Amino acid sequence: MKDTIQLALLGVGTVGSGVVQVLKENERLLTERIGRKVAIKTVLVRDAAKKRPLLEGIHVTTDFDTIAADPDIDIVVEVMGGLHPAREYMLRALEAGKHVVTANKDVLAEYGQDVFGCAEKYGVDFQFEASVGGGIPIIAPLKHSLTANRITEIMGIVNGTTNYMLTKMMEEGCSYDTVLKEAQEKGYAEADPTADVEGLDAARKAAILASIAFNTRVHFSDVSVEGISKITPADIDYAKDLGYVIKLLAIGKDMGDSGIEVQVHPAFLPKSHPLSAVNGVYNAIFVRGNAIGEAMFYGQGAGSLPTASAVVADIVEVARNIGNDNCGKLLCTCYEKKPIRPLDEVESCYYIRLLVDDKPGVLGAIATTFGKAGVSLKSVIQTRRNIAEHAEIVAITHRVEHRLVRESLEALIGLPVVDEIRSVIRVESEQA
Ligand code: NAP
Ligand code: HSE
Repeated sequence: MKDTIQLALLGVGTVGSGVVQVLKENERLLTERIGRKVAIKTVLVRDAAKKRPLLEGIHVTTDFDTIAADPDIDIVVEVMGGLHPAREYMLRALEAGKHVVTANKDVLAEYGQDVFGCAEKYGVDFQFEASVGGGIPIIAPLKHSLTANRITEIMGIVNGTTNYMLTKMMEEGCSYDTVLKEAQEKGYAEADPTADVEGLDAARKAAILASIAFNTRVHFSDVSVEGISKITPADIDYAKDLGYVIKLLAIGKDMGDSGIEVQVHPAFLPKSHPLSAVNGVYNAIFVRGNAIGEAMFYGQGAGSLPTASAVVADIVEVARNIGNDNCGKLLCTCYEKKPIRPLDEVESCYYIRLLVDDKPGVLGAIATTFGKAGVSLKSVIQTRRNIAEHAEIVAITHRVEHRLVRESLEALIGLPVVDEIRSVIRVESEQA
């Protein structure tokens, strides 16, 4: 048996440098926990000329072929991100009989089936705890600790960047651009932050969570997605006035015979809801199971060391499996094929903000239009916030199918007294 498990690290940016740091700082206790040493043999980067004091004594390369061909390397740790060449490198590592640990939700949400199939074929481990929720343990709990349950719902805040931004915008009145820049500087945002603010990163995580929770393959393109870029300071003010916070939520529901729903969208959440207190870069994921009831997982959803905590835990898991000759045992758990329910059929309550003419009869015309479309209103407020000769109407609906809301908005915009539909945001966890 080898004395030392050898690693190749693909990428040494925010997450990779955290992995190097955790392996160094906790070397003694990790060695004790595994029963032998773990060492980084090679690091793959784009720019080998860049000075990297953290990597002193470690071989740095830009050539993946040397890693794939190196028989000493046991585990390839992919923390470079993006779809390509990350997917190809992971597949080649698996084909070469190497175990893979990754933080890459992009590849999992698009090509999960390929990588799991490949790991199964070659009898090696494939671990991805850091791909969802940064440092929060959620993949292992879903695959192991909660496996006795039929899981019916997952609902969470799974993007650190947008939660950081929304918290700062709500609590400190900061501007969207300023807080986005801060999140980038702190290393929370993706290389292209559009993935964060447009909800794509959260959608990839939602696809991964729903696939595991509901045992059916959910692809990134199955998730209906809306980001936070259209949230305005006015929506934030209304949310506060009405007793809500705004959060970007990832929601998955198993609706039994009619299929599963998987969505990412911003939502008004009552201030009393436990997810409303999840602020800054913190993430949290609620899971509802038929035996456990509700469970919530909470922690830092992005950042160098929190994410490295999950990556290194996966390395330890694989190293232990190598020691116990137990690799390649628990891979893909998508053994069912459940239909994805179309967005039009999904029910929710809605906050709808309209700019209208400020004259008698307008409120009645709007209420009648909603009523004719089958949308029942729970509350309506009319204001004249800084708008000459116009008023804003804010309506909160009862639970209603998305299709009926869409049709009601089409009818409303055709009314001569309605000038603009300014915002449509779901309201979650409200009584019908
Ligand atoms: P990052 O800071 O941009 O670092 C990327 C690293 O990968 C850099 O060292 C870069 O090399 C290297 N790299 C990129 N493309 C490469 C290529 N084609 N060939 C060789 N090396 C390449 O990224 P990150 O924030 O650490 O994220 C890494 C992964 O972790 C992503 O999948 C991300 O979604 C995931 N993740 C990130 C966080 C977080 O908080 N940041 C949390 C959870 C998961 P150079 O140094 O030479 O440029
Ligand atoms: N950009 C991601 C986030 C990194 O902000 O949550 C963690 O996956």
